Amino acid sequence: MSEDNRSPDDFSQQNAYTDAETYDAENQWADDDEFYLALAKEIGGPVLDVGCGTGRLTCAIAAAGLEITGFDLSPEMLARARSLAGGIEWIEGDGRSMHLGRRFRLILMTGHAFQHLLTVRDLHAFFERMREHLRHDGTLAFETRNYAAKTFGHSAKPTL
Ligand SMILES: C[S@@+](CC[C@H](N)C(=O)[O-])C[C@H]1O[C@@H](n2cnc3c(N)ncnc32)[C@H](O)[C@@H]1O
Repeated sequence: MSEDNRSPDDFSQQNAYTDAETYDAENQWADDDEFYLALAKEIGGPVLDVGCGTGRLTCAIAAAGLEITGFDLSPEMLARARSLAGGIEWIEGDGRSMHLGRRFRLILMTGHAFQHLLTVRDLHAFFERMREHLRHDGTLAFETRNYAAKTFGHSAKPTL
């Protein structure tokens, strides 16, 4: 993990998620969504989906009757989420600096969104914000790739 001088704003400046329709075509419901949906049903709401993207999982959790808020950095991803599902609260922002003024029973960060936290500073900021938004008996769930198990393309290099 690098302790480099990269600004925490680097990812937002790259604005990587602009083609939400293509994202959805390439990323469809899978086993990991199934896992998180079951977890949400088990733990219950309110749920916060940080890095919700276009809301594939967010909408399924809402359809299961749970209170859920979708939160994402990308206006394009959120615009598509809003166009696909009404009745869900969608908030644009950065998980490293979010202050929603309320707490959740379950916070999710799925679809490898966690891997956008590139520096130690990013990680500290993110976990501080999660602590601020979790109920004291709350659960934070996220996953990350195991680079030892698979190579993820030419440019993907492990940072740990
Ligand atoms: C690979 S997509 C995953 C989207 C969704 N969770 C899914 O499973 O399809 C990563 C998402 O995380 C968002 N993201 C990345 N860094 C973020 C941050 N610091 N705060 C909020 N959202 C962030 C991106 O805008 C993008 O929509």
